[in-house]
Amino acid sequence: MSKQDCKLILALDMPDSDSALKLLEKLRGTLEWVKIGMQMYYKNGGDFVKRVDEMGFKIFLDLKLYDIPNTVASAVKSLSNLPIGMLTLHAEGGSEMMRAARDAARESAPGLQLLAVTVLTSFNAEGLLETGISLSPKQQVENLACLAAKNGINGIVCSPLEIEALRNILPQDTILVTPGIRPLGASSDEQKRIMTPALAAKTGSNYIVVGRPILKAENPVQATKSIIDELRGA
Ligand code: C5P
Repeated sequence: MSKQDCKLILALDMPDSDSALKLLEKLRGTLEWVKIGMQMYYKNGGDFVKRVDEMGFKIFLDLKLYDIPNTVASAVKSLSNLPIGMLTLHAEGGSEMMRAARDAARESAPGLQLLAVTVLTSFNAEGLLETGISLSPKQQVENLACLAAKNGINGIVCSPLEIEALRNILPQDTILVTPGIRPLGASSDEQKRIMTPALAAKTGSNYIVVGRPILKAENPVQATKSIIDELRGA
């Protein structure tokens, strides 16, 4: 994959919608994709999503759906009136849940890409074992990623350090979206398994998710531009 194929998604992890909209106003024309997570969505709802869409951004709604198949399918249908391009669900919900979500998306939101979250990066082997899973986190990530692909899920959210292994076992057209990205010189915050934007792109990520290196930068517009330049290899 060429570096140009990898796009930046800004994780809009901010406490209130006013400051988020102010920041997005400055990023119009520079940035294409925005990730809206639970923090923003539960507080500000669909109206906020629509405002961000009206400003011209594409939206990745990171709600990590996980429930019985019928409920998840209904949630996908409820969300289909929102202008979103990507939506997450937990692969741990299993085949039936993922197929129900896929079918609901095909029926009510044909352009929507569904992305599966595998093992949360907050888990280690011990934590997984407590939940009854004796596979290593790496094995379980690969297991769940394959299950998601088999059940028609379009992409996987994964650590940049998992890209290479997943590219070897997943269908070619699987979208890989990677958080845990830090430009050279940026603080790693609490992220432990990190990669630079350029290396993640080169390794095969389709989208990198970046939050704090942009949100906490003295000049967020400049920080955004320099990540985009890095992705383009400039
Ligand atoms: O600020 P930072 O760049 O670390 O933000 C990364 C974003 O990606 C956050 O919204 C975080 O919730 C999300 N994320 C992550 N690690 C995962 C999955 C999602 O950091 N494994």
